[in-house]
Amino acid sequence: MSVHKPLPHDAARLHVTGAARYIDDIPTPSDCLHLAFGLSPIAKGRVTGMDLAPTMAAAGVHAVVSGADLDPIPDCSPSNHDEPLLSDGTIHYAGQPLYLVAAQTHLQARRAAVLAHVSLDEETPILSIEEAEAADSRFEDGPRIYRKGDIDAALSDAQHVVEGSIDIGGQEHFYLEGQSALALPQEGGDMVVYSSSQHPTEIQHKVADALGLPMHAVRVEVRRMGGGFGGKESQGNHLAIACAVMAARTGRPCKMRYDRDDDFIITGKRHDARVSYRAGFDAEGHLLGVDFTQHIRCGWAMDLSLPVADRAMLHADNAYLLPAARITSHRWKTNTQSATAYRGFGGPQGMVGIERVMDHAAHQLGVDPLELRRKNYYRAAEVESGGPSGGRTSEKVKGHRLETADLEGRGAVRVTSEGGAKRYGGAHSPETGTAAGNTTPYGMEVEDFILHDMTERLAAECDYARRVETVAAWNEKEPILKRGIALTPVKFGISFTLTHLNQAGALVHVYQDGSIHMNHGGTEMGQGLFQKVAQVAASRFGVPVTQVKITATDTGKVPNTSATAASSGTDLNGMAVKDACDKICARIARTLAEELQAEPEEITFEDGMVRSPSAEMPFTDAVTRAYMARVSLSATGFYKTPKIAWDRIAGEGRPFLYFAYGAACSEVVIDTLTGENRILRTDILHDAGASLNPAIDIGQVEGGFVQGAGWLTTEELVWDPKGVLKTHAPSTYKIPCASDAPDIFNVSLYDAVNREETIYRSKAVGEPPFMLGISVFSALSNACAATGPGFPDLQAPATAEAVLAAVTRARQ
Ligand code: MTE
Ligand code: MOS
Repeated sequence: MSVHKPLPHDAARLHVTGAARYIDDIPTPSDCLHLAFGLSPIAKGRVTGMDLAPTMAAAGVHAVVSGADLDPIPDCSPSNHDEPLLSDGTIHYAGQPLYLVAAQTHLQARRAAVLAHVSLDEETPILSIEEAEAADSRFEDGPRIYRKGDIDAALSDAQHVVEGSIDIGGQEHFYLEGQSALALPQEGGDMVVYSSSQHPTEIQHKVADALGLPMHAVRVEVRRMGGGFGGKESQGNHLAIACAVMAARTGRPCKMRYDRDDDFIITGKRHDARVSYRAGFDAEGHLLGVDFTQHIRCGWAMDLSLPVADRAMLHADNAYLLPAARITSHRWKTNTQSATAYRGFGGPQGMVGIERVMDHAAHQLGVDPLELRRKNYYRAAEVESGGPSGGRTSEKVKGHRLETADLEGRGAVRVTSEGGAKRYGGAHSPETGTAAGNTTPYGMEVEDFILHDMTERLAAECDYARRVETVAAWNEKEPILKRGIALTPVKFGISFTLTHLNQAGALVHVYQDGSIHMNHGGTEMGQGLFQKVAQVAASRFGVPVTQVKITATDTGKVPNTSATAASSGTDLNGMAVKDACDKICARIARTLAEELQAEPEEITFEDGMVRSPSAEMPFTDAVTRAYMARVSLSATGFYKTPKIAWDRIAGEGRPFLYFAYGAACSEVVIDTLTGENRILRTDILHDAGASLNPAIDIGQVEGGFVQGAGWLTTEELVWDPKGVLKTHAPSTYKIPCASDAPDIFNVSLYDAVNREETIYRSKAVGEPPFMLGISVFSALSNACAATGPGFPDLQAPATAEAVLAAVTRARQ
C-alpha cells in the first residue's frame, strides 16, 4: 500500500532540475501583453491629477488605464468589497496601485509604470497601533472578547501576578515564485486564467465579477505554486483580475508578475501584533487565570483579518488549561499593506503571548520554565482502545481491507517513537481529562491531549534536564557569550473556523489501460499535497503510485473549492479522492462479483490485483472487463468535515475537528556585546498522526520550524515615519538561509494515530510546526536572562538590536 511510505515529492526531480513549470514558464502567444502597476508613493491622501501621457508614450506601451477608466472599478477583496483594483482617487497605503500599464514586454511595462505624473494631496496616515487606537480606526464596531470563568477574581486571589506586553513583528511570505497570472481570452468572451493561487475558485469568482460574467465563463488552472504560505490565498486576485480586465479590453493574452520589490510593497504580510497580559499564579505555579489584550494591525483593507484575529484568540491558550480567561482582540485599521494569511493564520501571534507568560512567570517564580509549562498543560486524553497500536490493524470499508497504520513502511526515515494510541496514559500518567475540566476559553473540550507524553519523550531524548545544567555552568564562567535553552509545546486547531469551508471535491477517471487520472480541489505549493493524495488513490485501487496521474487544479473539473489553507488540504481532498475511488472500486467489484465467485464486499484491491477469497485477476483486466460491461469508470467524490460547529460571534463551540501537536527544544547562544545570536541545536517531536508520507511530513516540520524561527529572529519589516516600507528586498529583509538552520537538527514524528477518522488516521501538518520556532525565541530570552537579575522582556523579532536591548534590561 502506498500510504504511510516516505516517497519523494512527485515533482522533486522537476523542481531541482528547473523543469517544473510555473506561470512564468508557460509559453505565451506572440501577441501577449505584459502588465505592471503604477504605485502610490504616499500612504494616505487623494489623487488630484494624473498625467498618464508620458507612460503611454514610452517604448512598447499598448494601453494604460486608471480607476477613472473603469466603471465600476473591479473589486479584489476576498471578504469585504473594500479593495478596488485601482485607486478610486483615495489613497490608503504607500504601494497602492493607481494605474495599470500594458506593454510588449515585462521590462517595458515596468519602465513605463514609473513615468506618469501624479499630483497628490497628502494626509497624515494612521500607521501604528497607538495611532489607530487614538483614532479608534478599527474593523468591526469594537473589540471581540472571549470570556471563561471569573478572571478578575482569579487575578485578585493570585499569589503571583505577572504583567507585561510583547510586540510581535509581521513577516513577508517570500515565496520563491512571486505573484503571477496569465489570462487568455476565448471565444464569446470566455476567459481562461492561469494563476499562482492557493484559491482557484476565488480567482474564478473575482474574475467573473470583474468581467460581469457568470462563473461558468471563467476557467482557472493552477498546476503549482513556488510557495504560497498563505500569501496566495487572496493576494493573487489583483494580478488575475488585472490580466483578465486588460485581456477583455484588448482581446490579447495578458500576463503579469510582480518584481520582488513590488511584491513586498504591494501585497499583504503576516499581521504584526502587540499582546499585553496579566496572569495570576498560585504559590505552586498553577495558572489561575490570564487576561490578554491582543492588538492586531490589519492594514488598510479587511482581507482575511477577522478570521486571522479570531485564530489568534483561539490559540491564546496554546497547550494550557486556563481556569479563567479574558481574551480581548482589537483589529486595527492602518494605512499599510492589507495584512493577510500567513502560515498559522494568527495562531502564532496568539501562542507567543501565552509562551511569554510562561517564561515571565517562570522567571518571577524562580522555577524551571518547562516544569511550569507541564504543570499547566491540559489534562491528557483518555486511553483510546481499539485503535492501531504499534502495528497493523485492518478496517473494513466498502469492500476494502485497508491498513490504517502500515508502520512497516516507514523504516527509511527518522521515526524514533514506536507504539501508538495506547501510550497516551503511559509512564507520565497525568490525570485523565473530564468533560468539565478540560475546556478551552471558547468552550471546546480538549479530548486528544497527547503533549504530556510527547514532552516527556522529547525532554528525555534531547537530555533537557542535564543540558539546562550544562548551559548554566557554561554561563557561569563565560563573560561575553551566553547560552539559553527552551522546550516549548504547540497545540494547533485543525479545520477552517468558517465552518462551511470544510468541504472538498474530487474527480477520478480510470482509463481502459488501468491508468488513473486524479484531480481534486487542493493546490500544490510545495507542501506535497498532490503526492500524499496520489498515495491515497493508489492505495484505494491497490496499484503503484506511478499509475496515478497528478493533474493541475482546474475549476472546470472540480467546482466550488475552498482555498488550500488551514493545513486542511490533505484532510479534505484526501477524503474526497478516497470517496471517488471507492465508488469506482465498488462498481468494478459489483461487475466482477459473479466471475470471482464472491460477494462484492469481499473483493479487495491490493498489489495490483483484484481479489476475492477464491480468485483474482490483475487490476488492468478488471478495468477492461468493467469497460466492456459498459460500467462508468469515472466518479466524483465529496467530503465534509464532521462534528464541527462554531459561533464566531459568541466565540463558542467546536471550531476544530482535532488538534495537531508538537514540541521543540532549542539551544541558542548570544553575544552580549553585539546581540548576534545562533541556534546551536534543535530537537523536535511532531505529531502527524499516522503520517501519510513521513518524508514529506518531516520536510514540512523542518521547513515550518525554520520559517517560524526566521519570523522571530531576523525577519524585520521596517516602515519609515510616512508609512513607506523600507525593507522590500533580500538586501534589507533577512530570511533564514541553509546556514541559519540549527547546527544539530533532530526531527522525529510521534507515531500516534489520529483519534478522529481522518484520511488513514493522519493529521494535518502544514502550519503547526511553524510555531515550534517559538522555542528559539524562548531560548533567546533565556540566554538574555543569564546576564542579570532582571526579566529581559525580549521583543520580537529578536534581531541583534532587540537582543542587545533585552540584555541591557536584564542587567538593570
Ligand atoms: N509548504 C511549502 N513547501 N510551501 C508552502 O507554501 N504553505 C503552508 C504549508 N506548508 C506551504 C507549505 C501553509 S500556510 C499551509 S495552510 C499549508 O501548507 C497548506 O497546504 P496543506 O493544507 O496541504 O497542508
Ligand atoms: Mo495557510 S496561512 O492557511 O495558507
